[in-house]
Amino acid sequence: MPIASKVLDRVLVLEMVRVTEAAAIGASTLIGRGDEKAADAAAVEAMREALNGLEIDGTVVIGEGERDEAPMLYIGEKVGSAQGTGPKIDIALDPLEGTTICAKAGPNSLAVLAIGEEGCLLNAPDVYMEKLAVGPGLPAGVIDLDKSPTENVKAIAAAKGVEPHEIIACVLDRPRHEKLIAELRSIGCGVVLIGDGDVAGVIATSDPDTTIDVYMGSGGAPEGVLACAALRCVGGQFKGRLLFRNEDERARARKWGITDLDKQYDLKELAKGDCIFAATGVTDGSLLAGVKRRGKTMTTESVVMRASSGTVRWVKGEHRLDR
Ligand code: FBP
Repeated sequence: MPIASKVLDRVLVLEMVRVTEAAAIGASTLIGRGDEKAADAAAVEAMREALNGLEIDGTVVIGEGERDEAPMLYIGEKVGSAQGTGPKIDIALDPLEGTTICAKAGPNSLAVLAIGEEGCLLNAPDVYMEKLAVGPGLPAGVIDLDKSPTENVKAIAAAKGVEPHEIIACVLDRPRHEKLIAELRSIGCGVVLIGDGDVAGVIATSDPDTTIDVYMGSGGAPEGVLACAALRCVGGQFKGRLLFRNEDERARARKWGITDLDKQYDLKELAKGDCIFAATGVTDGSLLAGVKRRGKTMTTESVVMRASSGTVRWVKGEHRLDR
């Protein structure tokens, strides 16, 4: 059954927040406890239970890993209570984006979910992706992975009417990015280094308050697709290219139907059609406040947005633990 626009809008938009809230609350008792795996497992279990309460015929296309690697929310797992009868929906999820952040109580760990009609979200294998993202309002084609970081910064600066040294880039703090960081600093750019969590890093380009103009560098391909679902809703541009470290990773990509392994993907090729993105903060961050417990009440902050309408809804939740 094709997704009726009405179904996406009226039923699923707010239901999705319940799902990310459940995952964030699940992980929250493990914030700062130094145990990434336990925090992730708690988020996964809570998200799965909440997803199974939705009246959808859902399929996980981006999940916790391949079937033999992940006990729950693996790629291909069917979720939802209306299998065979409800709307067919593809789901990309990361119940705890930033497991290390959560374990260390750092900034920007999120529970994240994106949905789209069947075939709308790229079935990205769990490999790295080279990413380049800017926020809305810039001319189409301003960024290009075939150009050097310096060329991209100059193009963004020209489009914004500023000097290249005024551009601020967000980059994951990794040894593999040493050359990139050195090049950006050599032309005077500010570099915001993040320890983890590039979904929030990419989305930050769309929020002027963060002052981040561009996201650059490699991170997980699944996180790239999730970030694209969000950028489709709030505007912005994204370029992504899968990076393979060995033949096994190439084989995984072929298994998911990817034939051109060197392709530079555009935003709409990674998340096309109408899609909805939802996230709840686990720890405080640039996008959302984290879960807080005060006595018998837990508070959450979430965002849910839809590509076709561009509507962005901010949802504050108060959850009573004694009821
Ligand atoms: P996890 O939540 O799976 O730990 O991912 C965190 C993250 O920082 C992502 O945001 C990012 O895409 C990826 O890890 C980068 O991978 P690596 O840590 O191998 O550089």
